Amino acid sequence: MKKRMLAVLLASVTACSLGGCAGKKKDTVRTVKIGLTLYDQYDTFISELVSWFNASASALEEETGTAINVEVVDAAGSQTTQNEQVKSLIEKGCDVICVNLVDRTEPTTITDMAEKNDVPIIFFNRELVAEDLERWEKLYYVGADAFGSGIIEGELAAETFQSDPKYDKNGDGICQYVVLEGEAGHQDAIVRTEYSVNTLVEKGVKAEKLGYAIANWKRAQAQTKMTTLLEEYGERIELILANNDDMALGAIDALKVSELPKDEWPIIVGIDGTDVGLGAIKNGEMAGTAYNDKEGQAEAMLKLAFVLSGKDAKNGLSIDDIPLEKEKYVRLPYYRVTLDNVEEYIKKSKRKQDEGQLLTTEESEKE
Ligand code: GAL
Repeated sequence: MKKRMLAVLLASVTACSLGGCAGKKKDTVRTVKIGLTLYDQYDTFISELVSWFNASASALEEETGTAINVEVVDAAGSQTTQNEQVKSLIEKGCDVICVNLVDRTEPTTITDMAEKNDVPIIFFNRELVAEDLERWEKLYYVGADAFGSGIIEGELAAETFQSDPKYDKNGDGICQYVVLEGEAGHQDAIVRTEYSVNTLVEKGVKAEKLGYAIANWKRAQAQTKMTTLLEEYGERIELILANNDDMALGAIDALKVSELPKDEWPIIVGIDGTDVGLGAIKNGEMAGTAYNDKEGQAEAMLKLAFVLSGKDAKNGLSIDDIPLEKEKYVRLPYYRVTLDNVEEYIKKSKRKQDEGQLLTTEESEKE
């Protein structure tokens, strides 16, 4: 499934790079040009979000009668590359640029260029510090409420641990846990680790941290790190708190090749609700996740970009349609997903994905 998603994303990226993507623009007068630069196109959550952004752009074209041209580029982990990409997107005449910053402490080159050329910037997913967003009035941020994800993850872990004495494997009344963390310095990694553990304790679980590892949101890295943690702590681990689903899945990969029988696995919880993550809840490998609303974030970002472009042919959408906090931020909530409601999320994601894949594939073929 991941390969399929990536194929669609890459096809879309190529089509866009070759000169624009959304269809039906040839016979319309106005074209809104939106540039997107990604910190890493192979990041599962980001690739799913962009897929939905492309699908939503096609739907918004239909709705508004205004052509929307989306160009997606991958900075592949380099801030220097991303700065160059923004320069080039400005030169190509983008009305608005959406930036998934590689280094959240380095937005200055981008904001200076944007201000000089009067091109609004919507930063997304990787939140910069508030002072940097204040540097110019046309800088925005779209993302999720990181605190909420940590709280939901802690609640899910506590509820599962308290639901059955079997999870306290050594029967000492204490939950021994390990944490798999995303990138060092990323706002989500910092906040999720802190809030998941604090919530676990607030919910009445005595907890003891055995260890942690940084796995940069990546499944393969998490598998390697989890293998080491298993060598060190083995069956003492009763809970794995992963900062995202991909790392929870990496932990599951490590458990599968370990000698631990499945009924002795620790509780595993994640964050994101990616397609594969939802599948792991359905088959009982993961206890739950905090759903990171990629559809909501993609749609908010698209609508904001559209309004900021000032090119809406029908003037149907206005800035008042965007739920902006402090005139700059859109922060959407997370949702709890467990075995009880996972089907609902699988259906939602599948339906949206089918629409998304259909549209992006068609667009790619047209080019
Ligand atoms: C987080 C998401 C991670 C990863 C990261 C990239 O919000 O949960 O899976 O995509 O963003 O910045």
